[in-house]
Amino acid sequence: MFITLEGPEGAGKTSHIPALVQFLRESGYTVFPTREPGGTSIGEQIRDVLGNLKNTEMNPRTEILLFQAARAQIVEEVIRPRLALGEIVLCDRYADSTIAYQGYGHRIDLVELRRVVTFATGGLTPDLTILLDLDVEIGLQRKSKQQEWNRLDAYTVDFHRRVRVGYLELVTQEPQRWRVVDASRPWDVVQQSLRQEITKSAGHI
Ligand code: TYD
Repeated sequence: MFITLEGPEGAGKTSHIPALVQFLRESGYTVFPTREPGGTSIGEQIRDVLGNLKNTEMNPRTEILLFQAARAQIVEEVIRPRLALGEIVLCDRYADSTIAYQGYGHRIDLVELRRVVTFATGGLTPDLTILLDLDVEIGLQRKSKQQEWNRLDAYTVDFHRRVRVGYLELVTQEPQRWRVVDASRPWDVVQQSLRQEITKSAGHI
């Protein structure tokens, strides 16, 4: 089963995933956690280029293609083989991030964008996608208190507002694939919801 986690900056995906993986393993599932961009040696190198603050001249099309290059690699090298073994692949961001960030955020034509994304994924779609939904200002505030502030975070608040609107539109377009978890609640409550959503879906796959 292929599960992806999506959400705006500071929604907490990255801190929730290790706890989720531990819980799922203790419950008897075989889980392989990974992340985008990255998750492979080539993908991590591409991630460094994308996150490098010095690359201020990066064109939105270049950015899109780099994300897709990393994605094509992880799909073939990691995700498909793990799924073929019957494992749960839990991926921190996937194709929906491109639609939300590059499509809604940068306003790149969605039809064109979907074509490039489909080329990269070979049509592989998650069975379940969880949106950790959070108010943009709260997310950016949380994020600024943490670690590094990479190039991709440096876009305006309006950009992040469009990203959130984008995610919510994606949810309404494919409600059967998406679950929305309110990430403004305390960490433990959010973690509990994530566990419930995954075990509910994994149960009947
Ligand atoms: P990351 O540090 O993983 O952010 P987070 O912890 O919030 O997931 O950086 C990933 C950044 O890349 C994040 O700003 C979202 C962005 N991104 C895109 O713009 N398009 C994409 O296709 C992907 C996968 C990520």
